[in-house]
Amino acid sequence: MEGTEMPVVIKEYIAEERVLDRALAYPKIRLMGSKYRLLPWIYDIMSRLRFSTALDAFSGSGVVSYLLKSMGKTVTTNDYLSFAFNVGNGVIANQGQLLSRPDVMLLTEPNAKREMFCEKTFGGIFFSPEDLRFLDNTWANLSQFSATKRSLAIAAMVRASLKKQPRGVFTVANDRSANYDDGRRDLKLTLKELFLESVDAFNAVIYEDQRPHRALVGDAFDAPQGAELVYLDPPYVPRRDDNCYIKRYHFVEGLSTYWRGAEIIESSRVKKLRKRFTPFSYRKTALAAFDGMFARYRDSILVLSYSSNGYPDLNILVDLMARYKHRVSVYEHKHRYHFGTHSAVQDERVVVQEYLLVGTD
Ligand SMILES: C[S@@+](CC[C@H](N)C(=O)[O-])C[C@H]1O[C@@H](n2cnc3c(N)ncnc32)[C@H](O)[C@@H]1O
Repeated sequence: MEGTEMPVVIKEYIAEERVLDRALAYPKIRLMGSKYRLLPWIYDIMSRLRFSTALDAFSGSGVVSYLLKSMGKTVTTNDYLSFAFNVGNGVIANQGQLLSRPDVMLLTEPNAKREMFCEKTFGGIFFSPEDLRFLDNTWANLSQFSATKRSLAIAAMVRASLKKQPRGVFTVANDRSANYDDGRRDLKLTLKELFLESVDAFNAVIYEDQRPHRALVGDAFDAPQGAELVYLDPPYVPRRDDNCYIKRYHFVEGLSTYWRGAEIIESSRVKKLRKRFTPFSYRKTALAAFDGMFARYRDSILVLSYSSNGYPDLNILVDLMARYKHRVSVYEHKHRYHFGTHSAVQDERVVVQEYLLVGTD
């Protein structure tokens, strides 16, 4: 081997290590179906594919979009939930606009003109009056900032709220359930303290790369075509229970627009928002939805995340994707969900097989 070749190989290897390290530094956001734990595996597979632009059509916590950005790709994040958009806009598409100490002081400064929506609506339902006041107050101060910084501050409020809320979901008022062990430290902190921590955590991973990333909010069926790779991670039809994101996360979804234009179901104890339909959640509509999604993005490399406890079965999805792509590869990964449960019924659901279906050519 020529003496000059060796350093190049070493350099590439180190660069790849850094990609994953950088992606894994992404702050954890408690969201059902987040692929944070699967990131090394997803990275391993995606790094074998040749592409420079990517659409993350169901971006959720944004962790896969951030992996793609870390890999040097130009990323479009998309989700139909507004809080996911704010994470995409404030953290991933953001070209280096951090929330500085003076910014944070401005954001948290008492504002006599604040509306009291959170305090009035959610008092006695979620959080302490002090925490709710903090959210009202911070919202009142947001207008002084650029759109990117506003999104970043909203993302930090959302992450803080998810951390503080028992089990990370907003289905039960004043949830005093003793069955969780995942947030005791967070429960003792105020929302303001958790917000400040989240600002630091996001600031630490935001960086400028001069690429024209975009963050969108909308249905995956309306997201732009044309990316060289499209990553699809829709909700799956659950075997039991349901998987409604609005039911679990209505509070942070409302918070991300300060409930402007939001339709609260007044009769609900937790003041939840009206459910948002997605065809991926129902047996009757899921198959056609996958078909429509593959057809829409047929000119891109397709990467679909899927798991063994979903519907339809894997071979059906492979056949469906094969209608649009000449080559469909299936990668498997055993993934253990840490829901901290002891019941035999739920244990069944703890270990699931995760799949990545990759359609090329
Ligand atoms: C399994 S999660 C995605 C998780 C994400 N990949 C992550 O690692 O955090 C599914 C996401 O799809 C979004 N979603 C569901 N139906 C949608 C639709 N029709 N269009 C756009 N987003 C949708 C939900 O809001 C949710 O954030």
